[in-house]
Amino acid sequence: MDAKLKKSALRGITYGLYLVGTKDESGLNAFVGNFLTQTSFEPPLVALAAKAGTRSQQQIASSGVFSVNVLESGQKDMVMAFFKSFETEDNKMAGFEFSTEETGCPIFKEALRYFECKVVDKIEKGDHFIYIGEVINAGVNREGEPLAMKETGFYYGG
Ligand SMILES: Cc1cc2nc3c(=O)[nH]c(=O)nc-3n(C[C@H](O)[C@H](O)[C@H](O)COP(=O)(O)O)c2cc1C
Repeated sequence: MDAKLKKSALRGITYGLYLVGTKDESGLNAFVGNFLTQTSFEPPLVALAAKAGTRSQQQIASSGVFSVNVLESGQKDMVMAFFKSFETEDNKMAGFEFSTEETGCPIFKEALRYFECKVVDKIEKGDHFIYIGEVINAGVNREGEPLAMKETGFYYGG
């Protein structure tokens, strides 16, 4: 297989870009992720791929839960705030206010919508581990157009 063609073909997959919230005894965390898709209506399931060995992946593995924050078109600044190391205070992460609900993972006030998942299965293959999450809680903060990865100019895939 030609590596360039493989990269180009895989970059034809279109994505959203989300803030995924995680937790463990050491505290709360959030990372920018695009490897996410719904996989079942009933029960409502999503698949998330988390980079093996990262704090986030280890937190999902140990806590068995994660949250997904759906950002609004135009919120690239919020995405970028999570690329560098950031401060977590009582109710703010990287300066963005959050609260917790069912899972204890961060839910950002400035996100458009959110849902929380309980891990019901996993596939530890490749450099990202796949977690199948059953959606156990969901909410809508306001109406708006969800952020698409394309508009940010970022790539993660290929
Ligand atoms: C555009 C973009 C998309 C990303 N998508 C994912 C993803 O789907 N899964 C993932 O584990 N990391 C993804 N990352 C990397 C994470 O944002 C993060 O850097 C990594 O998981 C380490 O985070 P941690 O050390 O806080 O756990 C992406 C990075 C960028 C720039």
